Amino acid sequence: MSLSQSSISAGARPGTAPPPWWRDAVTYQVYVPSFADGNADGLGDLPGIAARLPHLRDLGVDALWLTPFYPSPQHDHGYDVADYTDVEPRFGTLADADALIERAHRLGLRVVVDLVPNHTSSEHRWFAAALAAGPGSAERARYLFRDGRGPGGTEPPNNWSSVFGGPAWTRVTEADGRPGQWYLHLFDSSQPDLNWRNPEIAEMFLGVLRFWLDRGVDGFRIDVAHGLVKEESLRDQVLPTGTEPSSDATTMIERSLSDEPMWDQPEVHEIYRSWRRLLEEYPGDRMLVAEAWTQTPASLARYVRPEEMHQAFNFAWLLADWSAAAFAEVIRGTLAALSRVAATPTWVLSNHDVVRHPTRYGGGALGVARGRAATLAMLALPGSVYLYQGEELGLEQVEVPPEARQDPSWLRTRDTDQPDVGRDGCRVPLPWAGTRPSYGFGGEGQPWLPQPMDWAPLTVEAQTGVATATLEFYRTALAARREHARGADPEVLIEDRGPDVLAFRRGPLRVVLNAGTAPIDLPDGEILIASDSVTGRRLPPNAAAWLR
Ligand code: GLC
Repeated sequence: MSLSQSSISAGARPGTAPPPWWRDAVTYQVYVPSFADGNADGLGDLPGIAARLPHLRDLGVDALWLTPFYPSPQHDHGYDVADYTDVEPRFGTLADADALIERAHRLGLRVVVDLVPNHTSSEHRWFAAALAAGPGSAERARYLFRDGRGPGGTEPPNNWSSVFGGPAWTRVTEADGRPGQWYLHLFDSSQPDLNWRNPEIAEMFLGVLRFWLDRGVDGFRIDVAHGLVKEESLRDQVLPTGTEPSSDATTMIERSLSDEPMWDQPEVHEIYRSWRRLLEEYPGDRMLVAEAWTQTPASLARYVRPEEMHQAFNFAWLLADWSAAAFAEVIRGTLAALSRVAATPTWVLSNHDVVRHPTRYGGGALGVARGRAATLAMLALPGSVYLYQGEELGLEQVEVPPEARQDPSWLRTRDTDQPDVGRDGCRVPLPWAGTRPSYGFGGEGQPWLPQPMDWAPLTVEAQTGVATATLEFYRTALAARREHARGADPEVLIEDRGPDVLAFRRGPLRVVLNAGTAPIDLPDGEILIASDSVTGRRLPPNAAAWLR
């Protein structure tokens, strides 16, 4: 065995005071419309989630993150909030939210809620007031309204594109019936961007944070955390040569170094410092986790400086191909960037915005095997892990038929020459039991997004107690993490075992992942867990194992 070379530490060593819960937590993302439907209307809801919490306890996670459940016209499935301090009637009531938080706490699960501060819904009362009040008003100053360019103001104020395709500006009709100003929406036109240079906005959100902190939530996932502040001039984006303005979406996910006056502005950090101060007024370890698609690990690390957020999603692994070298580079780069700000890392393979990882890794049995291997490697690392609902069942991306698709990125691009199928395929409601839709999700028949007809073997019921099933693998792997990885040495020692093998150590724990095409010999030591069956001491391709 050739030991190397890269030894990286994940920041703080276990001290005497118990570390805050989030530092090494496994948090399970509940996509509210698709987890469980308590009233059989085809859409998930809070009582449905509360009834299924024992699944999360039995899985062995520490916390759940609920995607937005606030009043919303659902043009972006809750990421278009019309009222930040209430519950969407289709999802339940405030009393249901209280009951869910209470029930989770009784089961030993923390609750993280989603905060969407970059934009409101166009049905928020502030936006209605802005439209009614007209140009130059205090109401319009809560959003980013501007006059258009060109004769008659018929051209958008700048060349920015929406993440969901098409221009990032929509022109309004003024009270007198004439075409008027334009407003900025980095996402759908139903999601107008707030003007965070206006102090009224900061005040409003401090109130929203207090509202949910008082109700007992343990943390907030901050949506589009890198987007709140724009370069003040709202100047044109300098596009790479050969790109036509608005010919393509400003991709938020596929990062490349480019000019981005709409993202990651230095002033955004003051907002998070003020939120951190507020959270610290509350007892318990309340936390903030950033969704920030910044350009580099170093710019991401700025969001988790000591006085800012506690964590940021690290999307590096999620963006990496199935490759031992790529995974090693992700681990190295992540730990190196975070050590400079003394923050602990997070690890993520899937969420509601990306293609599920078994599908990214090749699909079918191969993709699922690779997904299990990557998960096992990730669970051994210091820091915390975010799981996306359904990955514990080995769910793959679903091909949702065009007529059933609902994602605004599909609706905005389907008639263009660059249609984007959108994200519905990772958001199909979970299969719990039974042999046909809705597989115990809720009522009879297909839910809001249709489920495949071949999901019967993938239900929670069908996988429970089956030793080879992905669900049982996740349960065992999470138990192994609690026993062997939690609290282990934060130092990660990456070993060089050839280009097809990811191998690292944390104290006595050793991890080996075989990304090659032939079986490999496992190093000495007791095999604690493997993602696939191991014959003798040979680790098959597309598998990982822990040893001690
Ligand atoms: C975040 C969410 C995504 C949403 C977007 C706009 O990226 O994860 O689902 O569409 O923000 O709020």
